[in-house]
Amino acid sequence: MHYFEIKDGVLHAEGVNLEAVAEQVGTPTYVYSAATLRRHYGLMREACDAHKDALGDALIAFAVKANSNLSVLKVLGSMGCGADTVSEGEIRRALKAGIPASKIIFSGVGKTDSELAFAIREGVRQINVESSNELERLIAVAQSLGAKPDIAIRVNPKIGAGGHAKITTGGAGDKFGVPVEEALDLYAVASNSEHVNPVGLACHIGSQITDLAPMEAAFKVIRGMAETLRERGMTVTRLDLGGGLGVPYYGETDTPPPSAYMAMVAGVLAGLGVEAAFEPGRLMAANAGVLLSRVVHVNERTDGRRFLVLDAAMNDLMRPALYDAFHDVKPVRPVEGASLPHDIVGPVCETGDTFARDRELAPLKAGDLVVFMSAGAYGAVMGSEYNTRPMAAEVLVDGDKWAVIKPRPTYDDIFAREPIAGWL
Ligand code: LLP
Repeated sequence: MHYFEIKDGVLHAEGVNLEAVAEQVGTPTYVYSAATLRRHYGLMREACDAHKDALGDALIAFAVKANSNLSVLKVLGSMGCGADTVSEGEIRRALKAGIPASKIIFSGVGKTDSELAFAIREGVRQINVESSNELERLIAVAQSLGAKPDIAIRVNPKIGAGGHAKITTGGAGDKFGVPVEEALDLYAVASNSEHVNPVGLACHIGSQITDLAPMEAAFKVIRGMAETLRERGMTVTRLDLGGGLGVPYYGETDTPPPSAYMAMVAGVLAGLGVEAAFEPGRLMAANAGVLLSRVVHVNERTDGRRFLVLDAAMNDLMRPALYDAFHDVKPVRPVEGASLPHDIVGPVCETGDTFARDRELAPLKAGDLVVFMSAGAYGAVMGSEYNTRPMAAEVLVDGDKWAVIKPRPTYDDIFAREPIAGWL
């Protein structure tokens, strides 16, 4: 559910007319709906709280990688949401947005010593350790700081799932986490260390998962491991079950809602007596954002292909080029007329800069505005300046209010970041 609707013939984000935003800020521009972000957090919170017996005082930690804009983090943080982070930069963003360190989880397969030290000094809630080498380094760093951080071991349960091979993380060959036996051993090493405090296990098997079965299977593995660790005399108080829940991109109606997901999790964890944590990214942000773009022109070729050439490109929204991802494209001012197949493309000099092939749309013309729906997660964050295209601006809407929360850089801004070598 989201708050992007046609009112008086024009698409609005909550109370704000997107034609007015395009007029004032230009395009391409990402537009986020605060009410939608709040709604998604609220649904997750409610679903967790309905199962306190099994999930404890569960932490919902937004996966900052999905949308790291400071205002977006502030909207979620002010509702009590935590942050799942994968770099020092993301930890810094979460802190800057007012999310307390006690609600920040630090994950990732390649944390450097200096990032680990930063996380320890800031006192993050938990560091998810993904390899034996990392555990060794973390112990050394913690010792040098005289600290004893809470850690979890990230398990690779050999159960991968997700909307695309490139976003599946729990498969046996994937680089994330350690296999079950090794994780049990690492937990014992950590338990015997004076310098880290193992509190539990973590797993995240993939993204855009629309079937609860693989998640349930993975969580059962994690539960079994927690029981084994306890039988071996170790303490397990937290389980971090990652993110991964899919969202509707095509208008699907069968994506499991947070309530069904939490009921499944509660069933798996019943009676274990742990505190759960969740790291939703896409679920919170995808349908809370659109990418607003203007039609540069329509190229009706003599071979019959009709190209809708937009001022947004693969550098603004990478997902179609990278994962063949589907984003619904809608006109901001719906037009009359029989729909025709369009190839929707950007101006970048690559065939990969194609958002959709043969997409049925009512005929649009130069100057018309369109939006890519469900672009609030893994949209702006994955943007680049390829082809020296200034990054898209970002706007937050909240009721009738709106603000630019990341201005489009000027060309001077771009060049100022590139000092020319002094001898040239
Ligand atoms: N936790 C961990 C450890 C993760 O690696 C991820 C996502 C999440 C949580 C959040 O997953 P979510 O709830 O958003 O599915 N760029 C890709 C998605 C990459 C996801 C990477 N990890 C895309 O555009 O589809």
